[in-house]
Amino acid sequence: MSLRAVVRGWGAAVPEQVVSNDELAARMDTSDTWIRSRTGIRQRHVAGEGEYTSDLAVAAGRRALERAEIAPEAIDLIVVATSTPDNTFPATATAVQRKLGSGVGIAFDVQAVCAGFPYALTVADQFLRLGQASRALVIGAETFSRLMDWSDRGTAVLFGDGAGALVLTAEREADAHGRGVLGTHLGADGRHYDDLFVDGGPSTTGTTGHLRMNGQEVFRHAVAALATSVTEAVARAGFGLADVDWVVPHQANKRIIDAVGKRLGVAPEKVVVTVDRHANTSAASIPLALDVAAGDGRLREGDLVALTAMGGGFTWGGAAVRW
Ligand code: UT7
Repeated sequence: MSLRAVVRGWGAAVPEQVVSNDELAARMDTSDTWIRSRTGIRQRHVAGEGEYTSDLAVAAGRRALERAEIAPEAIDLIVVATSTPDNTFPATATAVQRKLGSGVGIAFDVQAVCAGFPYALTVADQFLRLGQASRALVIGAETFSRLMDWSDRGTAVLFGDGAGALVLTAEREADAHGRGVLGTHLGADGRHYDDLFVDGGPSTTGTTGHLRMNGQEVFRHAVAALATSVTEAVARAGFGLADVDWVVPHQANKRIIDAVGKRLGVAPEKVVVTVDRHANTSAASIPLALDVAAGDGRLREGDLVALTAMGGGFTWGGAAVRW
């Protein structure tokens, strides 16, 4: 009996506090014009004091569970993609489990920075298809504002906070009506470790550190990695790019998103863009964008959606999902 991981619910959450480009320009040497023209970002949500990654994750997770009509205690796998855990350990997934009032199943974090969501989805898909779990809550959640060096205008304007979640259930392929995770592709190249990193950690400095980025090098690799992983994932699903209804790329920079669309030959209206309102939310960006596209009625049941992300490491990943 072949099993497949089928999306049954989705949800998202962002902090209430919104910071506009003009507000940043009042604090540092930047401008709305520069940020918009170089990145497409208009604003970002920033977590308030005492508002943690797990809080955003739980809020997104609850919405996804409600949509799926599944109780938290029926979830037997929680995977949280994050590079901004509440604490160094334990896993934020266990904080989510506790806040959801559940004490059953498996819970762990996946850390692949901005590629975290495809990594987490791939891991969950394999648990579900192998019958090692039956109902999964997969969350991308971040508070990147806490990693910013606010004196570095080259990075401080780029990131935001938020969370998005999917509920997936293991279903017999024969009953799935073609829906589910159909193909995934992951990659990494540690030679680029120093191009996008945080200059701290428990084993090095004993501090949390701040985000450092060689922006142009990341940009150069991002377009190729995003295009490759989406093409591979769709091919592994047995489809071509012409069959894809929606491309949902990691939301780091509108110029990167446009370049990827062009390279893939996908019409701009099929590419979901939310970087303008969320900025770069790392592992949360794809599930946040899915929530927007599903919420406004673009993404409908039966559509073929292709996800793709790239981040620190470098890491990258894609997935083809029949919604
Ligand atoms: O999520 C993981 C993936 N991350 C990414 O995908 C990020 C990839 N990289 C990028 O998106 C772009 O490289 C950036 C948006 C980070 C930078 O854009 P850029 O077009 O590569 O700009 P640049 O770094 O070449 O800087 C151009 C100029 C510089 O001034 P000079 O040297 O030409 O006088 C910078 O100092 O823009 C200046 N600059 C700024 N000016 C105003 C850099 N940041 C800012 C700023 N406001 N915030």
